[in-house]
Amino acid sequence: MTASAVSPVDGLSTPAPILRADNITVRFGGITALADVSLSVPPASIVGLVGPNGAGKSTMFGALSGLLRPNRGRIYLAGRDVTDTTPQTRARMGLARTFQQVELFLGLTVQEHLILAHRVRYARQRLWADLIDWRAWRAPDPAETEHVETLLDMLGLNDVASEPVAGLPLGVARRVEMGRALACSPTVLLLDEPFSGLDVKESEQVLAGLVRTVKEHDVSLLLVEHDVAVVLGVSTTVYVLDFGILIASGTPEHIRNDQTVRTAYLGIESPTPGGSERDGAGVRWGQGSTRGSTG
Ligand SMILES: Nc1ncnc2c1ncn2[C@@H]1O[C@H](COP(=O)(O)OP(=O)(O)OP(=O)(O)O)[C@@H](O)[C@H]1O
Ligand SMILES: [Mg+2]
Repeated sequence: MTASAVSPVDGLSTPAPILRADNITVRFGGITALADVSLSVPPASIVGLVGPNGAGKSTMFGALSGLLRPNRGRIYLAGRDVTDTTPQTRARMGLARTFQQVELFLGLTVQEHLILAHRVRYARQRLWADLIDWRAWRAPDPAETEHVETLLDMLGLNDVASEPVAGLPLGVARRVEMGRALACSPTVLLLDEPFSGLDVKESEQVLAGLVRTVKEHDVSLLLVEHDVAVVLGVSTTVYVLDFGILIASGTPEHIRNDQTVRTAYLGIESPTPGGSERDGAGVRWGQGSTRGSTG
């Protein structure tokens, strides 16, 4: 199936997307990591992006966030064509992301990460003063404190707020990275495998916090996650990539019942009308999947 054979998910009745990728192609030498892939993220929604290892998910994040320049296609953020803008410009426009490999400043405490991120968006002069003369680090004001404490609470980071991130377990570091991204009060947040390295309890806590954030703060999430059940459970729309090609898109129910997806990845031969919430539970794409049969 080609990308053009996939029916579009954003019809006339849906609100203008906060983030849109139109016909994105990215090549690395002879490898086509993304071939003519389009997706769209409506405001205040959770959109899933799934597919096996090497499908092109992180490449799409690179293109959306501006770290990668697509060979073809356009990126729109809040209706503006940002294809030729820097990651910094997109961040100032409300786009935040986390990385598949956690990237943090090892010398800073958990709380300092969140305060700095908040200042990047809301108090740039204070940020520069803080960075130029670290000894003159300004104590957070009440508004910053409240914002940061809400995030620490939501992500279960209160106990480690004053600890340097160096040496923190991976699950905690991931939550710090998420907190840092949220501290910028983004309008859209790209999460690349946010639950990898978290135990079940941590994952549930963070997921609940994210769902709450979407509802209460009008943030949109584009979620890359190998646990299909999690993605199908929280997303309004799911995009499925395989070998850089968009093989399916639509509601979780549509994806559950999509024959190509079911045969290729879930190992289920025939659709179950109104497929149950548990379909795909425990399946982590890329682990022993029969990828390649759809390419
Ligand atoms: N910087 C790069 N240089 C060359 N090839 C790359 C680069 N980044 C990604 N690729 C290739 O592009 C394809 C898509 O990779 P990508 O990392 O986007 O996949 P993914 O869906 O995120 O996979 P995973 O689930 O393993 O994270 C793969 O074949 C990968 O090897
Ligand atoms: Mg990846």
